[in-house]
Amino acid sequence: MNTSRIAISSSSASSSAFVVKVSLVAALGGLLFGYDTAVIAGVIGYLQKRFELSPIMTGWAASSAIWGCAFGAMMAGYLSDRFGRKKVLILTAVLFIISSLGAMIPTNLTQFLIARFIGGLGIGAASMLSPLYISEIAPSRSRGRLVSLYQLAIVIGINLIYFVNLLIASYGDEAWNVETGWRYMLGSGTIPAVLFLLLLFIVPESPRWLVKKGKDDEAFDTLEKVNGTAEGENVLNEIKETLGQEVGTLSDLFSRRLRPALVIGIVLALFSQITGINAIIYYAPEIFKSVGFASDSALLQTVLIGAINTLFTFVALWLIDRAGRKTLLQWGVAGMVVCLFAVGVCFHYNLTSGPWLILFILAYIAFFASSLGPIPWVLISEIFPTRTRGIAMSFCTVILWVGVLAITQFTPWLLENAGGASTFWIFMLNAIVLLWFVWKRAPETKQRTLEEIEQSWKR
Ligand code: GLC
Repeated sequence: MNTSRIAISSSSASSSAFVVKVSLVAALGGLLFGYDTAVIAGVIGYLQKRFELSPIMTGWAASSAIWGCAFGAMMAGYLSDRFGRKKVLILTAVLFIISSLGAMIPTNLTQFLIARFIGGLGIGAASMLSPLYISEIAPSRSRGRLVSLYQLAIVIGINLIYFVNLLIASYGDEAWNVETGWRYMLGSGTIPAVLFLLLLFIVPESPRWLVKKGKDDEAFDTLEKVNGTAEGENVLNEIKETLGQEVGTLSDLFSRRLRPALVIGIVLALFSQITGINAIIYYAPEIFKSVGFASDSALLQTVLIGAINTLFTFVALWLIDRAGRKTLLQWGVAGMVVCLFAVGVCFHYNLTSGPWLILFILAYIAFFASSLGPIPWVLISEIFPTRTRGIAMSFCTVILWVGVLAITQFTPWLLENAGGASTFWIFMLNAIVLLWFVWKRAPETKQRTLEEIEQSWKR
């Protein structure tokens, strides 16, 4: 190999190391998202006993953070357009810390609800800002994979807190857990939150946001590190040119030109939820217990779900920039349709005690994790123009959290009143609608720069 080849390959190795490092730090926002939403699974039973909660109040205790998420996502777009992505990410880390510490000390339910709502603001803001930030810094060839790291972090966060919850719960007896254990479960979130806060100080501001603010030199420093000098200059020029033609107000988001992007963002955000993923992630133990599994085997199934979810997110990471977003999404959602149908059949014909139910649920998770888990986050972070990206992502992410709220609220009711078969068949119908939509309308964005994607809406 000649010296110039060696120089090029070592500089591209160091630029990918840089962008992977930066993306991993931002992805920690996803870890906290998974951790701080799933912690409630371990807490809620003890909390119910500690504060003698009615079913309605238990519902509020479980959903208070999710309400915060919707508000957090709503504000983060505007704030990050104005003050920068990095500053608002730092703010989310502070909110995570305040909420984790605050949720340790409540002496009544109201204090608990306030602490969780504050945490929700952080989760909601991070849920849109982490993928947005990664998307704005990543080179186009690996952007899908890098944004998918965020989904991987969410899933790892969910598994991690299940494990921490189990560990804490097994430390003391029931009385200790009712009084104290749940406080440690919530407080444990302080550790990843502090780590997130500290690491955020070593990442740069998003280059696309910097160009928007006229700070081209600072933006170029980062673009050069990510893409090399020559390509960095090209990307900078492309960003400047495209920004020059943008309007970028809220009304522009609803303009004819951007309407297709907005519709895609909204549908993906909403349908990633109403096809049932969190009905399983949040309620798996209840579902398994309701069809006659003993508690400990119900727990084992839950661990299996976490493992498959993690494993198959790697499949997405591997395929997303090769096969492309659209192809992967079509196969994944088609697989989910088949599995949801089969799960419904198991409930309908009472085939719930054998291996079939758990097998189809695991297959559903595998299809979800390799497609509909990461891809909405990826597409929503790349289909909007730089000037409107913050507000647009906020908008879609709020819709996503409304979907989470609806599923959290209605799944127990549906399971009880409509039964398992109808519940999963409703999810299946939603998945069929989504499949049709993806087939007809989803764009393929692999290997294209954000500016090229933006130009395509003009045609
Ligand atoms: C996606 C969904 C989120 C879900 C997670 C599970 O990130 O948006 O709601 O909990 O996947 O893996």
